[in-house]
Amino acid sequence: MAQTRIAVIVGSLRRDSFNRKLADALPSLAPAGFEFVQLRIDDLPLYNQDDDANQADSVKRLKSEVKAADGLIFVTPEYNRSMPGVLKNALDNASRPYGQSAWAGKPAGVLGVSVGALGTALAQQHLRNVLAYLDVPTLGQPEVFIQHKEGVFDESGKLSESTRKFLQTWMDAYLGFVKRHG
Ligand SMILES: Cc1cc2nc3c(=O)[nH]c(=O)nc-3n(C[C@H](O)[C@H](O)[C@H](O)COP(=O)(O)O)c2cc1C
Repeated sequence: MAQTRIAVIVGSLRRDSFNRKLADALPSLAPAGFEFVQLRIDDLPLYNQDDDANQADSVKRLKSEVKAADGLIFVTPEYNRSMPGVLKNALDNASRPYGQSAWAGKPAGVLGVSVGALGTALAQQHLRNVLAYLDVPTLGQPEVFIQHKEGVFDESGKLSESTRKFLQTWMDAYLGFVKRHG
């Protein structure tokens, strides 16, 4: 039976990114029948409209990976109360040329961990605004705003049991959302 393919986009390029650790744990929360693929965004050019007619190979790759996905998960930190520029750059690159966006119609989930008390709430809100314009439906509830502090990850850097339990509820809701859009 065909696998349901979920493309995961991490909004941090940091080597020891908490958000990447969160993204790495996602497959273990899903039942059989789903595959998770992390999409690379660190080799994309800074978006330049002059390149629309001649997009870089990395942009073409991202667009084809997004198109091949049944669902999307964005896992992002908050930078200066918004999403990081690298994530906005990926969204812009794969949204163009006008009329040829790769994003439209893909059901998406939004997750994030940051050190601040708001746990990426404002970054997620900005991201949801952009996704709404790109015609990407997003799961509304439950919301996941994680503040990075003791107890979120265990000593080995894996999700702690309480974080896993919390995220399991989210994953069950998200996969149901993807199936409803299938
Ligand atoms: C440029 C910059 C801006 C930041 N702004 C915020 C912010 O607005 N809110 C917040 O909670 N954390 C902020 N942080 C701290 C991040 O939450 C922290 O660096 C986190 O580890 C980033 O996620 P990562 O571990 O996945 O890279 C900022 C960090 C950087 C480098």
